[in-house]
Amino acid sequence: MNAPGLFLVLEGPEGSGKSTLAGALAQRMRGAGVEPIVVREPGGTRAGEIARQALLDPENPIGPVSELFFYLAARSDLVQRVIRPALAAGQVVVSDRFALSTEAYQMAGRGLAPEVVLPANRAAADGLRPDLTLILDLPPDVGQARQVAAGKHLDRLDREGAEFHRRVIAHYLAVQGKGVRHLDGLLLPDRLLHAAWAEVLTAAPTKFGAHQRSR
Ligand SMILES: Nc1ncnc2c1ncn2[C@@H]1O[C@H](COP(=O)(O)OP(=O)(O)O)[C@@H](O)[C@H]1O
Ligand SMILES: [Mg+2]
Repeated sequence: MNAPGLFLVLEGPEGSGKSTLAGALAQRMRGAGVEPIVVREPGGTRAGEIARQALLDPENPIGPVSELFFYLAARSDLVQRVIRPALAAGQVVVSDRFALSTEAYQMAGRGLAPEVVLPANRAAADGLRPDLTLILDLPPDVGQARQVAAGKHLDRLDREGAEFHRRVIAHYLAVQGKGVRHLDGLLLPDRLLHAAWAEVLTAAPTKFGAHQRSR
């Protein structure tokens, strides 16, 4: 149980608009008088940023199991040092990626066995589950085209082949469950924000003040 805070996670393939939406949601929350803690995975702690460098460097040829545990080490540190304390203090935490990314990339993408990935993933998250996960659905190739258009330096995972990214996207598309909502990543940023904010208010009807609901 996460109470009294609110734990919101943004998921989806590269270029689906997670970071853009995280910034826009944070701004909307500030407008409602709530200052959220915004974190990105991997990263957000000293150890997490070191793991991030190891993971994203295209020159670093780590294997899939090593990759899995770097991600989980970063997540465990973030949960213990940042997310749990913030939620315990009643704060709103917005995380750009969380445990679902490990299922999509390391399990579906890399093909690591579920019986290896799932228990380790739960351990790293320390049993913490998002109150709301917003998955930004995007057809294959659109995300990479956006990144290229934006001049982003492609990292180690961005450079994986089309089949890898198709498996990642297929996994995201199939995810259903309590607290999981799919949004159309092809929506323009303001429409996407509108749809996401409606989901946030539904998930946390009292957190952001009733006056925000009519917007
Ligand atoms: N809803 C959107 N529609 C079109 N382009 C977008 C949208 N959201 C973000 N972008 C652009 O797509 C690129 C990737 O967005 P970003 O938020 O960094 O995605 P992610 O964090 O999921 O990788 C950026 O150049 C961004 O400006
Ligand atoms: Mg991003």
